[in-house]
Amino acid sequence: MTINIKLYIKMLLTAFLILFISGCKQADTKSQYTIGFSQCVGSDLWRQTMLDEMKMELSLHPGAKFIYADAEGNSAKQVEQVKQMLDKGIDLLIISPNEAQPLTGIVEQTYNKGIPVIVIDRKTSSASYTAYVGADNYQIGKMAGEYMGTLLKGKGNILEVMGLPGSSPAIERENGFNDGIKKYSGIHIVSKVYGDWLKENAKKQLNQIQPELQNINAVFAHNDVMAAASRDVLNAQQIKQPVKIIGVDALPGNGGGIQMVSSKLIDASLVYPTGGKDAIMTAFRILNKEPFSKENILQSVVIDSTNVQLMKLQWSKINSQQRDIERQQSLLEEQRQVYNSQQIVLNIIVITLVLAIVFGGLAFYSLMENRKINKSLEAKNVEILTQRNQLIEMSVKAQAATEAKFNFFTNISHEFRTPLTLILSPVEDMMRNEKLNIVAGKSLKLMHKNVFRLLRLVNQLIDYRKIEYDKQQISTSPNNIIAFLNDILGSFQHTAQKRNISLNVTSKEDNIVVWYDVNMLDKVFFNLISNSLKFTKNNGYITITVTKSTDVITIAITDNGIGMEPHEVEHVFEQFYQADNGSSKGSGLGLSLSKEIILLHQGSIEASSKKMAGNNLYY
Ligand code: FRU
Repeated sequence: MTINIKLYIKMLLTAFLILFISGCKQADTKSQYTIGFSQCVGSDLWRQTMLDEMKMELSLHPGAKFIYADAEGNSAKQVEQVKQMLDKGIDLLIISPNEAQPLTGIVEQTYNKGIPVIVIDRKTSSASYTAYVGADNYQIGKMAGEYMGTLLKGKGNILEVMGLPGSSPAIERENGFNDGIKKYSGIHIVSKVYGDWLKENAKKQLNQIQPELQNINAVFAHNDVMAAASRDVLNAQQIKQPVKIIGVDALPGNGGGIQMVSSKLIDASLVYPTGGKDAIMTAFRILNKEPFSKENILQSVVIDSTNVQLMKLQWSKINSQQRDIERQQSLLEEQRQVYNSQQIVLNIIVITLVLAIVFGGLAFYSLMENRKINKSLEAKNVEILTQRNQLIEMSVKAQAATEAKFNFFTNISHEFRTPLTLILSPVEDMMRNEKLNIVAGKSLKLMHKNVFRLLRLVNQLIDYRKIEYDKQQISTSPNNIIAFLNDILGSFQHTAQKRNISLNVTSKEDNIVVWYDVNMLDKVFFNLISNSLKFTKNNGYITITVTKSTDVITIAITDNGIGMEPHEVEHVFEQFYQADNGSSKGSGLGLSLSKEIILLHQGSIEASSKKMAGNNLYY
């Protein structure tokens, strides 16, 4: 059951982790595309406007990655930058090629790799691209030509300031312009220079053709910055005749073509949309596999004194709308962030709630289990208590039975003692009588011995009882233990000699004074030595060794009697225990009584023995 629950929790946790992660992910955008944008030159206003438009549109796709590189008007550098983008791994390339020919190879390569390519503004020399975004430069050139025809009323000399040679808008605008002025037979292009799209370059080139400037009536510059450069040079050269100037781009805002027209710096400009927004929109259509057009031609219009104010108004309106959009976008971003964090908090709350329910359930389950266990433990406790009470009752009964047994023995012993004493003294009298001694000496000795033995047993029983129940007090006095032991051994010497058993007390000192109860220790040693004698065979020995250390006296009784088994040694000091010593069985009280007496003297007694190797008793 426990394993199942653990598994369940594990599964739940994994599920919620997935839920949590996916919840967090959901807050992210759907697209994770990387778009590379290779810009031929990034410094001028027109290109900056293009980039801003792109960024604005990209902000609607927050998950997309945008890599931007500016080739600074260097075609070789642009090829390298595209290669680097390909190495990094892009999903789509947007490129405005600096020059058509040098960039064709890398664009084809990219396209052939299966990476979609959007060519913007300028073109390559090949059709290997996915989509084109930009105005039709030929049409712009043509429109400029036609406009120039009406502006000059069909008559005049024109100077053409062209873009970078080899760049497609320069080529196309030139061609378009030629075609546009064709129908005006009075209009002639008297001079052409390449300004490379740059103001300073244009100025430099124009300054080199000063004499030609003297008889021109109009300038067609391929863009507004070169148109402004033309006006500057004409002013600087103090050209007398009025010269009409037409540019291309018509950018709104400060420094843009619309402002130039409005301030009459130039006479007209043709709108050349950057296409930044359209390029990004087309890119996402391609990436999301949505339908898209390969050629996305942006419209153009001539801006001159007739419509420039309207354009300015429109532009400022668009501009303020743009700012509104930007503000709303930043608000949207803030909201998105708030939503994301709220989503995370919500997920955490849900997970916590579910976990709380699960753990609550588990806690409830274990509470129930605990209650069950407690109940069964209580039942067991009651059972144990009953058993304990029964045991106590039984032991009380057993104690009472032992008590009764002891009382019986003690009472009997008391009853026996008087008649035994009464038997003993006539027997001793009879033993002293010589006549009777001759006739029944042996029998009298036997009688005396056994009566004496009986009397000793009876006394032991009474003594034991006194120690056990009456907690007999000992009365100690200082005595020489060596002399005391020799004295006791003296009583056994006669019997020992008869059986050729040596009985000795050995000690380093002759006089060792110890405090003890003479009567009690007398009984102990008398009992122990008579025990030893009983189990020691003829020609054996019993040695009492007394050793003294700082505060302990050790008395060891060693014999070479028949010995005991280890389990017998273990119980030798227990009441009524009788070792299996063949025929010689004792009462089983002597050693137990001896132990009690030694304990009363704050001593200890132990025995060691090996079968057939005698006994050692230490006190
Ligand atoms: C900007 C620009 C524009 C022009 C276009 C042609 O770099 O020179 O003024 O219309 O590039 O590609």
